[in-house]
Amino acid sequence: MESSSVLPTGLTEISLGDHGLRGWQVDTRLCRARISQQGAQLLEFQARGREPLLWLSPRATFIPGKAIRGGIPLCFPWFGPHPGRPDLPAHGFARQRDWQLTEASATSDALQLEFSLVSDAGTRALWPHDFAATLRMRLGRSVALQLTIANTGSQEFRFEFALHSYFPLTASRAARVEGLDGSLCLDQLDPTREHQHQQGELRFQGETDRIFLHTSGQYCLVDERSERILRIDAPDCRSVIAWNPGPGKTARLADMPPEGWQIMACVESGNVEADAVTLAPGAARAFGLRLEDQAGVPPVGTPLR
Ligand code: BG6
Repeated sequence: MESSSVLPTGLTEISLGDHGLRGWQVDTRLCRARISQQGAQLLEFQARGREPLLWLSPRATFIPGKAIRGGIPLCFPWFGPHPGRPDLPAHGFARQRDWQLTEASATSDALQLEFSLVSDAGTRALWPHDFAATLRMRLGRSVALQLTIANTGSQEFRFEFALHSYFPLTASRAARVEGLDGSLCLDQLDPTREHQHQQGELRFQGETDRIFLHTSGQYCLVDERSERILRIDAPDCRSVIAWNPGPGKTARLADMPPEGWQIMACVESGNVEADAVTLAPGAARAFGLRLEDQAGVPPVGTPLR
């Protein structure tokens, strides 16, 4: 979209912080949200009459090239540390680069935005492939995202990605993730890194950093104190990453308040490790994520649908 284009009602351009980052404020009859141009990152979302859906650290910094702590950062084209080059940015470069807003339109039930990031000399210096990434957001009573990756080059490539969602919790120790039972699990805090099968629900007891592979793509985060259930529907995402930094790691993160680990958890949806995606030249694949919150806690073991 040209910078002179008229934005739909309910969408306003804003500055984020004092270091020149730009973004958008969404304010419609259905929801309020903030989005950063860096990373096309949904920072905040709140349906009218509901609690905030996402957690944005009160100490998040808005500095060009530095990842923003909270909301839904997008990790791409690798997840975690780069496999062979520890000097390259963790979780890839997509969350540190400016995306272009290429479409913005409003219907009676949602505001729809489309952001795009295409390879250039800077991305090729970090990852030697040509790609076009598109992130579509549908913001209404709930949130739906769709990431599309296209291979615009002449060589096949393999990539990882994660929609690294941060969710607010009343108390992380009284929260559980349902729907991962039986998935292959890799505990990133266990130096032997042996794969296990998850048994039952996942709980956040102190520092937690686990990758689940070959999941069904449907799970929920239950906040037992507030009785809130967050349904996560990501049918094209086979991996889930559950992260809570616990007190020790939180103390080392300048952009998290000391009590941060008690009131948030990340339940990320993507395709990483053995679920990484291979794209032939000219091919494209889309990955959807839908987040919806509901009241009332189901008994442990209740099927999701
Ligand atoms: C999670 C990883 O996805 O992100 C953790 O599994 C990592 O290992 C966490 O610590 C936060 O990463 P970052 O780069 O945003 O601090």
